[in-house]
Amino acid sequence: MKSANFQDKSLNHHNKRDICLNSGRLASFFFSSLALTMLFSFFLYFPSPFEAISRSEIQRKGVNVIKPSEGNSILHCDLFKGHWTRDHNASLYENSTCSTIPESKNCFLNGRTDKDFLNWRWKPEGCNLPRFDPKIFLDMVRGNKMAFIGDSVAENQVHSLLCLLSLGEIPKDIYKNEIDRNRVWHFSEHDFTLMNLRTNFLVAGEQRSINGSLSATYNLHIDKVDKNWIPNLPTTDYVIISEGHWFFRPIYLYDGGKIIGCVYCNEPNITNVGVGGAIRLTFRAALAHINGCKECRGLVTVVRTFSPAHFENGTWNTGGSCSRTGPLNESDVNLESEAWEVRKIQIEEAERAQKEGEKNGKTFVIMDVTKAMLMRPDAHPGDYWGNHWMKGYRDCVHWCMPGPIDMWNEFLMAILEIETGLVS
Ligand SMILES: *[C@@H]1O[C@H](CO)[C@@H](O)[C@H](O)[C@H]1NC(C)=O
Ligand SMILES: *[C@@H]1O[C@H](CO)[C@@H](O)[C@H](O)[C@H]1NC(C)=O
Ligand SMILES: *[C@@H]1O[C@H](CO)[C@@H](O)[C@H](O)[C@H]1NC(C)=O
Ligand SMILES: *[C@@H]1O[C@H](CO)[C@@H](O)[C@H](O)[C@H]1NC(C)=O
Ligand SMILES: *[C@@H]1O[C@H](CO)[C@@H](O)[C@H](O)[C@H]1NC(C)=O
Ligand SMILES: *[C@@H]1O[C@H](CO)[C@@H](O)[C@H](O)[C@H]1NC(C)=O
Repeated sequence: MKSANFQDKSLNHHNKRDICLNSGRLASFFFSSLALTMLFSFFLYFPSPFEAISRSEIQRKGVNVIKPSEGNSILHCDLFKGHWTRDHNASLYENSTCSTIPESKNCFLNGRTDKDFLNWRWKPEGCNLPRFDPKIFLDMVRGNKMAFIGDSVAENQVHSLLCLLSLGEIPKDIYKNEIDRNRVWHFSEHDFTLMNLRTNFLVAGEQRSINGSLSATYNLHIDKVDKNWIPNLPTTDYVIISEGHWFFRPIYLYDGGKIIGCVYCNEPNITNVGVGGAIRLTFRAALAHINGCKECRGLVTVVRTFSPAHFENGTWNTGGSCSRTGPLNESDVNLESEAWEVRKIQIEEAERAQKEGEKNGKTFVIMDVTKAMLMRPDAHPGDYWGNHWMKGYRDCVHWCMPGPIDMWNEFLMAILEIETGLVS
């Protein structure tokens, strides 16, 4: 019971295997890390063959968007291949200047004292990542709707974006549903609507009941996407979609009412598809739904790859912690972890959707945060998530605010600059 509550509240790591670092094995990952880097670096960004509506709109609107000083250098740059460099000016806000930081992500409020984890900026190898600029961002999305679709980690990015955009305009909170956890904010000066659409699996699902009581096992239906995120799709210009942490638990997958596989199971007549297999099937279903949406003309979908957890010396429920205070080098990152495997699957599925999208004018762009965040075991709330009723459990899944999750919104800004034709 306790563990089910914990999962529903925040961390979702039932039966989690070894996403955590294993420092004893680090050296052996050096060569595989190099090989995988080369192997994957070529499909990190898909340029759009179709002009998205948002791009022509921004040109029609004739908005005076300031060109970022980094200009076109980001256009042919692999933004996701790089390292963290020292920068004592990396954070644009503090807990005292953003009033909307959720308490559980406000690490300093909850007693964290080391601040050095704030002093790092992401440096792509081939260019500089433009600093987040709320004015440029808001001008680019003027008149647009943007929806984040995913779990509490997706919501973490929305909260970061709210802090960053609030430096330009304070939005109005226009919708809040406690049950499905959907939220909508409106930036009236820019007529920009930001939505958080909560879904843990992207597809429809329910907890299995065993002998009349709910279990920690889920049934997922890959032929039905989660209703919570689809109604708004046709009027949305940008979608940022992600999933991952909820799949580390027992799951039964259904297609047309028939069981087609399971996760963390051992049954003679059901195929164990593994966490990755379940993520592949549900991601494919969700991206196919977007591709099949005829009214969703010009929709730009940003696929955000898996955000790794960093439990060390145990898992979330066996005393695991994340108490490091600085980033790792790329050579120290475990590229044989399940997190890296999940990322590979998500990129394959995004690539498949992108090919399909070319036929019907849909744009899919990858925001590949996995490796950069694998290097940031120092940036989770850990002990400092302010939970009074679950002492001893640490949050090594979500990210402190401010912190390196703010960089995801710099990726997003760069993607928008490319998609709107601001840099060409
Ligand atoms: C720090 O960043 C702000 C805003 O990005 C900029 O105005 C300021 O000049 C920077 N300060 C230093 C010391 O680089
Ligand atoms: C911000 O963090 C400091 C500790 O660095 C804490 O004392 C303060 O209460 C926090 N303020 C807010 C508004 O969260
Ligand atoms: C369900 O209840 C029956 C009868 O009380 C029991 O034999 C069985 O083990 C229970 N199943 C589970 C999964 O708890
Ligand atoms: C698998 O076998 C068990 C026991 O024979 C049965 O209850 C269950 O319905 C079977 N599942 C499928 C998917 O055929
Ligand atoms: C893990 O345990 C080792 C040995 O007790 C300790 O030195 C290390 O600091 C721990 N790591 C973390 C992240 O807590
Ligand atoms: C990476 O390694 C180099 C050389 O070993 C070291 O100087 C640097 O501080 C390391 N960077 C990080 C982020 O750990």
